[in-house]
Amino acid sequence: MSEPLILGIESTCDETAAAVVRGKTLVSNVVASSMDEHARYGGVIPEIASRAHTESFVPVVSQALADANIELSDVDAIAVSAGPGLAGCLAVGVSGAKSLAWAAGKPLYGINHVIGHVAVTQLQFGDIPENTLALIVSGGHTSILHVNNIATDVSVIGTTLDDAAGECFDKVARLLGFPYPGGPHIDRHAQAGNSKALRVPQGLTQGKAAAAHPYDFSFSGVKTAVARWIESQVDQGNDINVDDVCAALADSVASVLANKTMKAARGLDSSTVIVGGGFSANSQLRAALVDAGKRYGVNVRIPEIRLCTDNGAMVAMLGSNLVSAGVKPSSADFSIDSSMSLNTICMQ
Ligand code: KG4
Ligand code: ZN
Repeated sequence: MSEPLILGIESTCDETAAAVVRGKTLVSNVVASSMDEHARYGGVIPEIASRAHTESFVPVVSQALADANIELSDVDAIAVSAGPGLAGCLAVGVSGAKSLAWAAGKPLYGINHVIGHVAVTQLQFGDIPENTLALIVSGGHTSILHVNNIATDVSVIGTTLDDAAGECFDKVARLLGFPYPGGPHIDRHAQAGNSKALRVPQGLTQGKAAAAHPYDFSFSGVKTAVARWIESQVDQGNDINVDDVCAALADSVASVLANKTMKAARGLDSSTVIVGGGFSANSQLRAALVDAGKRYGVNVRIPEIRLCTDNGAMVAMLGSNLVSAGVKPSSADFSIDSSMSLNTICMQ
């Protein structure tokens, strides 16, 4: 099947989303977010997110089909995020997708959400070349993946040993009094600050640690360093320049991410790097990747912001790849996997 028509459903965290993709063309894309209901708690509350999915599932899927001007019976297959993510949230999407697949007699693919972040870039840039590297950065993940074939051959080259990049930003944002999610606030303030005003450590970039973990990341020391610096300034009676703190943090995190990814590209002889996940909306990271890509002679694919955040298009696109590659659908009794390995593309 060269141009399969796929319905993709996403419910790993706080977005209930559905989209229709034909081949590598986006036909419809509907996203409902429960973020406003979590903001006052300073983070996503799983139970609130799960309930929001149960309320939004039917309207969102119906809207995606209506916008595409099709009926469920028209699709060739359904794809749904089976993990990684919040268990209760995944359960809503997967049960809903199983019901639709069973009722309409359609094949169902329980796909890996994180690999969906890589797959979605095809909607903007076309096919993913063999031997491509993908830097996946979000609130929950920071990993470098080696993508030989998006439907059949993806492996992990490096990952964070502790906090994810988004998580690190969100923690520092909390220290600075920004609302959740803090990443975009840090991005904005960083644009007005001086990144050299304080030193923020760059984890696993020096000596033995760098040699043992060339493509791994560590961001847990960053929050501590920023917290200590703020304390010392307060002790000395100095005003805190929030813009400078944000600029130093953003500069440190962006340059570690960009430099390690380019070193991995050189090490694996990859000429293309893809970036994906919510944190890839970060302007300092986008600039650092463009710059590092030029220095290393690597072609960098940075998707438009609406493709970076969680949506159904990423799920439908990976589903389309799986169908085109002739991968068999997930078995009827596949389960959710909240900590799904990034080496798994699709549940069997
Ligand atoms: O992929 P995503 O939407 O959800 C997860 O799967 O985690 O990523 C959300 C993360 C949050 O940590 C948020 O603060 C961060 O991405 N983020 C940003 C920006 N936009 C979103 N971090 C820094 N700069 C941004 N512009
Ligand atoms: Zn995500």
